[in-house]
Amino acid sequence: MPVPGSTFTKASATALPHASGSVAGVHIARVLFHIAEWRSALAEIARVLAPGGRVCLSLGWPLYTGPLRELSNAFYDRASEAGLPRDDVRADISGPDQVAAALTDLGLVAEDPIEVSGTLSITPREVIADCVAVADRWRPAQDLGSLPTLGASVLADSPLPADTPVPQPRTVRYLVFRRR
Ligand SMILES: C[S@@+](CC[C@H](N)C(=O)[O-])C[C@H]1O[C@@H](n2cnc3c(N)ncnc32)[C@H](O)[C@@H]1O
Repeated sequence: MPVPGSTFTKASATALPHASGSVAGVHIARVLFHIAEWRSALAEIARVLAPGGRVCLSLGWPLYTGPLRELSNAFYDRASEAGLPRDDVRADISGPDQVAAALTDLGLVAEDPIEVSGTLSITPREVIADCVAVADRWRPAQDLGSLPTLGASVLADSPLPADTPVPQPRTVRYLVFRRR
């Protein structure tokens, strides 16, 4: 989503195209588990942060719970059976404590974590549309052209009414660290 006054750059988290000490804040959510060299990504964050700048980091949260999780799992299972496996890069991270220790080792100072809670209402059709639309969940260089048809069949086979919203309680916890 465009943010007025902001620019967007596509780059590797392990080689950020920013000068050292030039960035006021970093938000990184649901990304670190996808980076095998996750410590390099944290080092890059520490490098680009300006003095007093903060990083706000969440390892992730379940996108869906309950019946919507079963629905999205059914979709990914069917895609896998059809020869379309998901991207399975998973960094060797035991949990937020290990990430916090790594940020401390980089000289950053822990602040109070931030926890955000709320309930979203999402329809099964929206879940399938999201599963179909997000291309970077799949291994690279696969032909994803059959995903819409797969999604429609999973939706048709589901006992859930496609357009009835299902409440999804969600809690997101962020580590917050500051550069001295
Ligand atoms: C689960 S998505 C999270 C996206 C977004 N932050 C969110 O919460 O919806 C993981 C993202 O990590 C990105 N990613 C994976 N490896 C990366 C890397 N080495 N450098 C930069 N981004 C990477 C992928 O492109 C993908 O957009």
